[in-house]
Amino acid sequence: MKHMSKYKLKKEDGEKVLVSGEEKIKVLIHEPTLKKRVKELGRELTADYEGKSPVLVSILRGSFIFVADICRELKIPVIIDFMAVSSYGDSMVSSGIVRITKDLEFSIEDREVLIMEDIVDSGRTLNYLIKNLQARNPRNIEVCALLDKNVPRKTENKVKYKGFDIPNKFVVGYGLDFAEKYRNLPFIGYIENE
Ligand code: IMP
Ligand code: MG
Repeated sequence: MKHMSKYKLKKEDGEKVLVSGEEKIKVLIHEPTLKKRVKELGRELTADYEGKSPVLVSILRGSFIFVADICRELKIPVIIDFMAVSSYGDSMVSSGIVRITKDLEFSIEDREVLIMEDIVDSGRTLNYLIKNLQARNPRNIEVCALLDKNVPRKTENKVKYKGFDIPNKFVVGYGLDFAEKYRNLPFIGYIENE
C-alpha cells in the first residue's frame, strides 16, 4: 500500500477529486449534504419513536460515524450496542458469506430494535442480520441505512429510514472503507477506476 502524507482535494473538470496512492476518489455526497440529511433522519426517528426507547444496533465498522452523528440528533432515550459482521474481506465484491465477528452485549428481547447500517448493497448482510436478530424475540425491528445502492435485488427492500439512494459505485468515506482505508474522509466519494 502506498502512503501519502496528506489527503488533498483537487479540482478536476469542476469536480472535487482526492488522489491518494493508487486510488482516485470523486466526491459523491459533500459533507454539508450529509450533515443536513442526518439531521432530517434524526428528526424523523425522534418523531416515530416518541415514547419509546429503541436499541440502536450499530453494524461495525462502517456505521460508526453515521451512528455517532445521528444518535446526537435523537431526542429520545436509546441504548447503543454494536455488532460486527464480515462479508467482504478486502475485496470490492461481496463474498456472500456473512459471519458475526462481534455480537451484541445487551438482550434485545421485547425491545424496539433499529439496525443502523452504512450501506445496503446486495442486501445479503441485512437479510442475515434481520433473521439473526428476529430469532432473539425483539418487539420489532426496523432498518436505518445511510446509503442504498441502486442494484437489482431479488429480495424486497427492508430499509425504512434511508439517507440517500446512490448509483452502483464503490463508495468510501464517512465510515466506509476500501481495504480499511478512507473511513475518516468527511464526505462520501467513489473510487474511479481508470
Ligand atoms: P451487502 O451484503 O452486499 O448488502 O453488503 C453490505 C456491506 O458491504 C456493507 O455493510 C458494507 O460494509 C459493505 N459494502 C457494500 N458496498 C460498499 C461500498 O460501496 N463501499 C464500502 N463498503 C461497501
Ligand atoms: Mg458494513
